[in-house]
Amino acid sequence: MKARLLKILREADGFAVSQKIMLAQLGCREVELAAVITELNGQGYDIRGVSDGYQLVRSPDTPWPWEFSGRQERIHYLAEVGSTMDVARDLAAAGCPDLTVVVAGIQTRGRGRMDRSWYSDDGGLYFTLVTRPAVSPEEGFQVNFMACAALVRTLRRLAAIPAEGKWPNDILCDGRKLAGMLSEMDAPTGMINYVNIGIGVNLNNCPAERESRAVSLKELTGRRFSRREVLQGFLASFEADYSAGDFGGAVLRWKGCAGSLNREVTVVTRRETVRGTAEDVDRDGALLLRLPDGKRRKVIYGDCFYSGSDKG
Ligand code: BTN
Repeated sequence: MKARLLKILREADGFAVSQKIMLAQLGCREVELAAVITELNGQGYDIRGVSDGYQLVRSPDTPWPWEFSGRQERIHYLAEVGSTMDVARDLAAAGCPDLTVVVAGIQTRGRGRMDRSWYSDDGGLYFTLVTRPAVSPEEGFQVNFMACAALVRTLRRLAAIPAEGKWPNDILCDGRKLAGMLSEMDAPTGMINYVNIGIGVNLNNCPAERESRAVSLKELTGRRFSRREVLQGFLASFEADYSAGDFGGAVLRWKGCAGSLNREVTVVTRRETVRGTAEDVDRDGALLLRLPDGKRRKVIYGDCFYSGSDKG
């Protein structure tokens, strides 16, 4: 009902719609319409009663489920949460549908890769996507590269910025970190139960206050971005690739929008620091480095830093 009601009001482009028309289109009674409007106003909308109808004056930038047409049942919005990874893990374990999304206003215990925390204050976009790809556990990482490429496309399109992927799944712009991804896989019986992809995007927040190598879309462009619009754009882009099922081509597509190859890098893993030239990312998603002594080295997971730059 909320989605349909908002659609009617938005189609009027800021003008009022008569109550009679709304009741007829929604097939409800006056008292039900008034109750839903009261509820929406309590959820941040500004819908005003005018002579014989209603007018939508403002919508909040809150990713309420009903704003995601066709995906409404799969969107879970929480104003504040410890980490969306934890909620998504519980939902996935309880059997939630493929492509369920947990999105939060702020996170009080946001997690990053390599046991770091992810500072998640107001204005950023923080969500975890539950996926259940029909691939083997060895190939499960492909879905991360698919998500990274989809997010790069979305940010380039919405903000007209030269965003690019950095191995394994960061997104940079002008060498500064715009978004990060963290994934958790569950494959207890040799088959994937879920791969949860947690994504944090610096949108309207100021991450550089805490982390000089980070930047937000707002800082890059000088304007604010809608969390809802970025999430909708990402989901449309990702779901198109995901439903096409070309997981094998995900790394290739990621390479097409990544800036990590053919450059000097330092990769920090849990056990060591390796320097070399990033030559390729193989079918397993591992980074192939050419070491100074000419030998080749495969790195499965770690943090990658571009040499000769204090950024990235
Ligand atoms: C990284 O670059 O280290 C990965 C950061 C991932 C952050 C996101 S925000 C949404 C989801 N919930 C979390 O606690 N972490 C991920």
